[in-house]
Amino acid sequence: MSYSSIARFYKLIESVTIGGSLLDARLGHLQRLAEGPAIHHALLVGEGNGSFLLPFAQQFPNTRITVLDESPAMLRVAQNRLEAAGIDTARIAFWQVDMTTEQLPEDRYDLIVTLFFFDNFDAATVRRVVPVLERASTASAQWLLSDFQIPASGWRRLRARIWLIILYAFFRCVAKIPARTVPPVEAILAATSFKQVARETYSAEMLYSTLYGRA
Ligand SMILES: C[S@@+](CC[C@H](N)C(=O)[O-])C[C@H]1O[C@@H](n2cnc3c(N)ncnc32)[C@H](O)[C@@H]1O
Repeated sequence: MSYSSIARFYKLIESVTIGGSLLDARLGHLQRLAEGPAIHHALLVGEGNGSFLLPFAQQFPNTRITVLDESPAMLRVAQNRLEAAGIDTARIAFWQVDMTTEQLPEDRYDLIVTLFFFDNFDAATVRRVVPVLERASTASAQWLLSDFQIPASGWRRLRARIWLIILYAFFRCVAKIPARTVPPVEAILAATSFKQVARETYSAEMLYSTLYGRA
């Protein structure tokens, strides 16, 4: 899988599809995070082109941030966006790694962010990666998760199914993602030490954003 070939167009691709709702989902808990426990070191996994990173870095000027992505081109776009916005990147580490094989330092991060990341993988891969991130979290860490879902019934379900068929066909073709449908990420996280704190849905329930806490 590689998002590098579409890194420069990723924002455009979003804006002609459901970009506004994606951004709402990413940023839906930002204020809650600002009002919650201090965040010393955040890990942004599969952050892509910096759509969360930029507003997060602006809102949390004293937080160390590690931005992890497999795609060097995505990391470059994200870094350029920060520099163009005048953000000092000295406290921000850009780390090119494959999270499906990487082992992380334990007890390091007090915020884990996985936004539209797990939808690239099958359930078995998510089950393997989640414990690595859980071990990398501090005892009082929070976890911010956003992803796609298929609503239970009605026109919303039909709409989401159609969108997901289109989006998976596109990303399987251009980014060679292995997944064919959304894995049960919330069920997998429910089996960890993280407990749901708040949950919002967007775009007629096709997107969700969930904040978890551990304390
Ligand atoms: C669908 S994009 C989502 C980007 C961003 N989080 C957002 O909200 O738009 C998935 C991102 O995960 C990255 N990615 C895919 N597989 C990865 C892996 N195995 N390890 C780390 N990053 C990966 C891609 O390069 C891409 O930037």
